[in-house]
Amino acid sequence: MVKICCIGAGYVGGPTMAVIAVKCPSIEVAVVDISVSRIQAWNSKQLPIYEPGLDDVVKQCRGKNLFFSTDVERHVAEADIVFVSVNTPTKTRGLGAGKAADLTYWESAARMIADVSKSDKIVVEKSTVPVKTAEAIERILTHNSKGINYQILSNPEFLAEGTAVQDLFNPDRVLIGGRETPEGRKAVDALKSVYAHWVPEEKILCTNLWSAELSKLAANAFLAQRISSVNAMSALCEATGADVAQVAHAVGTDSRIGPKFLKASVGFGGSCFQKDILNLVYICECNGLGEVGGYWRQVIKVNDYQKSRFVNRVVSSMFNTVAGKKVAILGFAFKKDTGDTRETAAIDVCKGLIGDKARLSIYDPQVSEEQIQKDLAMNKFEWDHPAHLQPAAGAGGGKQVSVVGDVYEAAEGAHALCVLTEWEEFKGVDYGRIYGSMQKPAFVFDGRNVVDVEKLREIGFIVYSIGKPLDPWLKDMPAVA
Ligand code: NAI
Repeated sequence: MVKICCIGAGYVGGPTMAVIAVKCPSIEVAVVDISVSRIQAWNSKQLPIYEPGLDDVVKQCRGKNLFFSTDVERHVAEADIVFVSVNTPTKTRGLGAGKAADLTYWESAARMIADVSKSDKIVVEKSTVPVKTAEAIERILTHNSKGINYQILSNPEFLAEGTAVQDLFNPDRVLIGGRETPEGRKAVDALKSVYAHWVPEEKILCTNLWSAELSKLAANAFLAQRISSVNAMSALCEATGADVAQVAHAVGTDSRIGPKFLKASVGFGGSCFQKDILNLVYICECNGLGEVGGYWRQVIKVNDYQKSRFVNRVVSSMFNTVAGKKVAILGFAFKKDTGDTRETAAIDVCKGLIGDKARLSIYDPQVSEEQIQKDLAMNKFEWDHPAHLQPAAGAGGGKQVSVVGDVYEAAEGAHALCVLTEWEEFKGVDYGRIYGSMQKPAFVFDGRNVVDVEKLREIGFIVYSIGKPLDPWLKDMPAVA
């Protein structure tokens, strides 16, 4: 029986391995992690991540050919194929701080593989890594090899949170990069045969190692660039009276452009886009390609601009001060259908409002109070480390932040309401009831184009919705600080 071990039981390692296990009953899959609480959660009824459809998949194969364990060394030693899906945070200190990927966790995983291995192994990069990481990993492994053969493959993951299971069952493509040697090709074929259990052959793309590594960074940069492009347009729409949804629709119906990833918002978030683009920028700079790096950096600058523009809209509309005012925050996750808050736009928006002394009442259907307080207390990039190495949960916004159980409680007595995640339930709430419970004038700031602007204006709200024609109230207010 082929044995697979995946180091890192996170958003990628957990779902990816669960799908491999369910699709390949003849393969034994072990997912290992240094975080005891994470592994306990994977073995419990309450999985550590919320992902539609994941519970079912895990239930079908856990205990049969899918195992979650903290016994990292044993499972690595026994495996034929070792996936590495550990954190690759942005460096916060030293060379490349604020840009380069921190490969501490990757390197320690590689050293551990070298220490415990007694048989040949295929080591698969699942984490998103800088180009040429495979070469570094190869060096670590071969310098400690004790005669064992290692083949390194790059198999970046393209799943999107919120649709991970669906994406894994039916991927646009699976990308496998390997050495162009007979041994390299053999290893590529071995991994290909795993995916071939359910992915059509024409969707399994095989490339050299460096192309696979770079393709992942490039794909995320292209996706984020589309969002920053439409967000840049949203500012111009507000200034000119155009409607960003109409513009995006008109642009997206061009078959050369396509409709996806053209939705204006308060800004992109998630664990990958910013980190991977910064990493790309750093690699460009290291290769003397400053212009290229500058081009991609702009994607992040526009994203930061979009978040601060939103905060400015809130503050300037409310007579230039939110001090002491209650502001309801609807949604904290970085997008709907996930409880993930890594790099969510809500963090920067909330911090901006707290900085202006607002009192926040936050509601998100999937994010816990502990997580929100932790996120608001954390410094940039601190989140992307294994749980036990993160700072303890603190009261992020202190007395200024409360986390509540539903929309109505959040809005009770508030001066304004900010929609920061596009949860479906925010479309169906009784805005008439909410209006009745709020201070007047009552403001709605919709960072996700979720609410029916006209209907809310009829109720009496003053409404700002990203990229939509401005409410007369907002026309003379400065949008940019
Ligand atoms: P995560 O933070 O959810 O999971 C990483 C896990 O690795 C943690 O549970 C941590 O405890 C564990 N870990 C770290 N060092 C370890 C070690 N030496 N031994 C054993 N376990 C260790 O991260 P996530 O989101 O799963 O991301 C993993 C990688 O996949 C990153 O490189 C990320 O950029 C990439 N990626 C993430 C996607 C996403 O949507 N989250 C999508 C595609 C790629």
